[in-house]
Amino acid sequence: MRTKVAIIGACPSGLLLGQLLLKAGIDNVIIERQNPDYVLGRIRAGVLEQGTVDLLRQAGVAERMDCEGLVHDGFALAFDGSNEHIDLKGLTNGKTVMVYGQTEVTRDLMEARSSSAGITYYNATNVQPKDIKSTAPYITFDHDGTTVRLDCDYIAGCDGFHGVSRKTIPDGVLKEFERVYPFGWLGVLADTPPVSAELIYASHERGFALCSMRSPTRTRYYIQVPSDEKVEAWSDDRFWQELKKRLPAETADRLITGPSIEKSIAPLRSFVVEPMQYGALFLLGDAAHIVPPTGAKGLNLAASDVSTLSRILVKVYQEGRTDLLERYSEVCLRRIWKAVRFSWWMTSILHRFPGNDDFAQRIKQAELDYFVRSEAGRRTIAENYVGLPYEEIDK
Ligand code: APR
Ligand code: PHB
Repeated sequence: MRTKVAIIGACPSGLLLGQLLLKAGIDNVIIERQNPDYVLGRIRAGVLEQGTVDLLRQAGVAERMDCEGLVHDGFALAFDGSNEHIDLKGLTNGKTVMVYGQTEVTRDLMEARSSSAGITYYNATNVQPKDIKSTAPYITFDHDGTTVRLDCDYIAGCDGFHGVSRKTIPDGVLKEFERVYPFGWLGVLADTPPVSAELIYASHERGFALCSMRSPTRTRYYIQVPSDEKVEAWSDDRFWQELKKRLPAETADRLITGPSIEKSIAPLRSFVVEPMQYGALFLLGDAAHIVPPTGAKGLNLAASDVSTLSRILVKVYQEGRTDLLERYSEVCLRRIWKAVRFSWWMTSILHRFPGNDDFAQRIKQAELDYFVRSEAGRRTIAENYVGLPYEEIDK
């Protein structure tokens, strides 16, 4: 079998890339290890930057998002017992974010894919990119008891942090950058009305907390927990009690609790590899970088990589501009590092770090207080939160 672009991974980045390429008449095949129900069962983040929203619209998969998604003009930073509003819209010349779950984005993309001409192999095992440094790369994988060979021009590695794509690149080519944070987030999903119309990011001496939502009737709350914490140690009741202690009193009083429908602990890390291309293989999204969820950047960075690669591939196939391929990595990384910085910074000012002495703690509190009370500080937060602009690929 032959295609122009072979895409490994059918999560948001692979599906979105496939959709944008199909729209431009560039045929592609997606190869995914899991089945669709498994992919849709993963609970992920839920804040879309304007650029991601625009890209989903451009891909023609925004109809349900535009109906059901919640446009947020701002969010709150809670500390010292009160909520401080960050007016995203007012501080960024009218930019906003959209609260719409990543699972729903994936569902919409899967529906569009299944009604398109694009081929997708689910339950593909032993996926192996081959001859990636040559002009005739291919992928082999096992499917329904047979081994399939897929010849292609380019391979898009959209297979997440644990995928095979990054590992295919020979030792010594990639440079890795990493920070592992000494805590995780315990998250609870519940069918309860949100405590506030806006997201609340709370810094408290007992640790960080976040009040988020999926819809007017479904909430997603998180609290910072030690890295080695076990989810079994947290009954619903214990979770709600702890969350309330970390919120301003007037917010805690309004919190409506209920049975959890999902509860899990996620570790926090920052991770980047450079470069994001090796021969015919391009890395996108979590395959190339991980950010802590504090700035809501994970899915949005995957979307900006997709935007960059799809714009380059369109120029390659429509105008023969193969010279642009080698710009992919540098264009992506310039934006990625700024989001890595912002996510790291939001994490560092809002969490309690075990081992920090009192001086370090006071400095963090002063930093948060300064940024929130200063117009310049609030604007900096807002500009990064709504998402920095996408770079032109052909300046
Ligand atoms: N072969 C085929 N598919 C694979 C393989 C493999 N060897 N390894 C992983 N996959 C699939 C996974 O099953 C998954 O469906 O690749 C997909 C990777 O998806 P994600 O981990 O969601 O990565 P990405 O698409 O880059 O999503 C970006 O947004 O909210 C953020 O960080 C969060 O993961 C999220 C990210
Ligand atoms: C979420 O809704 O899951 C969410 C929202 C904002 C974040 C992280 C997660 O920064």
